[in-house]
Amino acid sequence: MKKIGIIGAMDEEVNKIKEQMEDVNINSIASMNFYEGILIGSPLVVVRSGIGKVNAAICTQILVDRYGVDLVINTGVAGSLRSEIDIADIVLSTDALQHDMDATGFGYERGVIPRMEQSIFRADENLIEMAKNVCKEDLPLLGVHVGRIVSGDQFVSDSDKKEWLVKTFDGYCTEMEGAAIAQAAYLNNIPFLIIRAVSDKADNSAEMTYSEFEAIAIDNTFILLMGLIKKINKL
Ligand code: ADE
Repeated sequence: MKKIGIIGAMDEEVNKIKEQMEDVNINSIASMNFYEGILIGSPLVVVRSGIGKVNAAICTQILVDRYGVDLVINTGVAGSLRSEIDIADIVLSTDALQHDMDATGFGYERGVIPRMEQSIFRADENLIEMAKNVCKEDLPLLGVHVGRIVSGDQFVSDSDKKEWLVKTFDGYCTEMEGAAIAQAAYLNNIPFLIIRAVSDKADNSAEMTYSEFEAIAIDNTFILLMGLIKKINKL
């Protein structure tokens, strides 16, 4: 049975999972509460990382070092970067990169991490396939998109910035943790998948739509997660 690490940036994103877990053991490490237990028969560690790439990377490393998770799933909300990706739709990561990595002064392209072999981190193909199938089976009316997630320590609520992200990186959605988790997973050689429900359009309307649609977005992600856990451990 695979031990699954689930990271959400905010309480709202992980509370539903925590409520359903059994045999829970809570451990506080680096000011993060790690909930280890069983969900629908599967071993699991769920944690709220806090917002941003530093929190997300530290959190992933702890899941690997202290809990020995076999894979990491990151859930949460994101801002859409494409007109066909609507509020409440789901984006599954093909890959993830950091849009705010900038060593252009050294002659690197935007988003490229100096002296690393890779700056674009590929999600696990099996996890993508399984997640797509869960969406088909359990969320048939929902728009599901599979594409690049671009992360940065920035809440994008500006149309010019949004346009730049699309033009430069061809992203499907933007958020603040995914690529850090992806990079930490890559460095530790474990599979990952980012699942994001769209809460806003990452433009000048972003702040308003965000609060309105957050609850719906989180509900859909929860359904997807439950289905995915069942498939991963064939329950
Ligand atoms: N998470 C949800 N919406 C976002 C946005 N517009 N920018 C960054 N992170 C987000």
